[in-house]
Amino acid sequence: MPSTLDLDQLVQPDRVHRKVYTEPSIFELEMEHIFEATWVYCGHASQVALPGQFQTLTIGRQPMVMVRALDGRIHVLYNRCPHRGVQLCGSPRGNTGSGFVCPYHAWSFHLDGRVRAIPLKQGYEGTRLNPNDPQCSMTPAARVDSYRGFVFASLSPHCPPLLEFLGDARVAFDDMCDRSPEGEVEVVPICHRVVQQSNWKFFMENQLDALHPSVTHQSTGVSARRVEKRVREKHGEAPLHFHYLSTFASSFDQWDSVQTVNFPRGHGVLKAYMGLRPSDPDSRAYEDLLRQAYGADRTEEYLSRSIHHVLIYPYLSVQSPLQQLRCLRPLGPDQTLSEIWHFRLKGAPEAIYRRAMWYFNLVNSPATMINADDLENWARAQWGLQARGNDWVSFHRNMGSDTESAGIVYSTKGTSEVVMRNQFKAWREYMHAAATPAATAQAPAAANR
Ligand code: FES
Ligand SMILES: [Fe+2]
Repeated sequence: MPSTLDLDQLVQPDRVHRKVYTEPSIFELEMEHIFEATWVYCGHASQVALPGQFQTLTIGRQPMVMVRALDGRIHVLYNRCPHRGVQLCGSPRGNTGSGFVCPYHAWSFHLDGRVRAIPLKQGYEGTRLNPNDPQCSMTPAARVDSYRGFVFASLSPHCPPLLEFLGDARVAFDDMCDRSPEGEVEVVPICHRVVQQSNWKFFMENQLDALHPSVTHQSTGVSARRVEKRVREKHGEAPLHFHYLSTFASSFDQWDSVQTVNFPRGHGVLKAYMGLRPSDPDSRAYEDLLRQAYGADRTEEYLSRSIHHVLIYPYLSVQSPLQQLRCLRPLGPDQTLSEIWHFRLKGAPEAIYRRAMWYFNLVNSPATMINADDLENWARAQWGLQARGNDWVSFHRNMGSDTESAGIVYSTKGTSEVVMRNQFKAWREYMHAAATPAATAQAPAAANR
């Protein structure tokens, strides 16, 4: 098991050792000190809109279930029967009715996890088993909270409040919800799930990496640009979804002009570069609805935020202008599950939803050439780092030229590797933190929405 000293040697300000991507013992430490010690995204409240509805997930290595109780509150519980450990919810999602019933020996539980009944009670008389002991109930996550309908839980009672954890990155959820005339989004219930054959950190680094698109996505971008040009010549204009792909072929100078904003805790923003404010009839009708809801000034404020991606370290990439959210669930040092969700703006025209769905399918789905090319890079990085010929991964680009103000680091060049340096700064802070006690069955916590 690496010591703190080893970690300092492995993760330096301008380079990191290949072991941080490949070493199983470091992965175990990451799960303990990062994923199981901080707030982790569970899902959107609309995924469990009705009492009894549940969604299973993992927090670090822990199997969990998010469930709506009869009083409307949302609970996040360890998905484990206190009797002999059987998972109480075997499906990714569903409705468990008014409580959980274990399929093995029929112990049952309320939707907040409290034990409801233990069958054949007489067999336990005179034993140490006490139904009032929290050990006889499902164990709740130490903390549950939500922000604008997005539900988070922490297995550690020691993390800061959710809003403090999110910091300025909370703009991901503000930007998404403010684009709805009703100020809310609802989940599109089916997501893509992809198991990446690579370490979770490659995905997080890549999301704000403006150095790679002109190379990795050149063939897609250039092809899309040719088709977009032909369509425009023939019809006078081309639909926005051609643009989603053709911008990947932007020049390095264009990428350098797109700023990254790097927040504390590893969060960050890649500013807008796609020009997602067309003036077609659907867009004008949509903007009219926003003006009716918010007035002209606030509508302008909401639609002119400069955001392409918001990263919430260590597991979320939110593309709020297109209502996309990708969430990582690490499975091992070289395997990561990604869930690719998208959302509907409540009260917005169908055409606006269709536009976001084009992006979902063309850029973020596992079927697109964009995602496929990224996935291949990350897998090849995972394999390449098995090589002993060079132990170091370089993050030197533009080091020393970025600017800092009030703890926020701004890139002077969009292709600066400040993004990775900022993420590993957070990584070191997490990994140096004292080990936190395991979650216990103390005060149950729940989110109101
Ligand atoms: S394992 Fe759940 S009731 Fe026995
Ligand atoms: Fe990419």
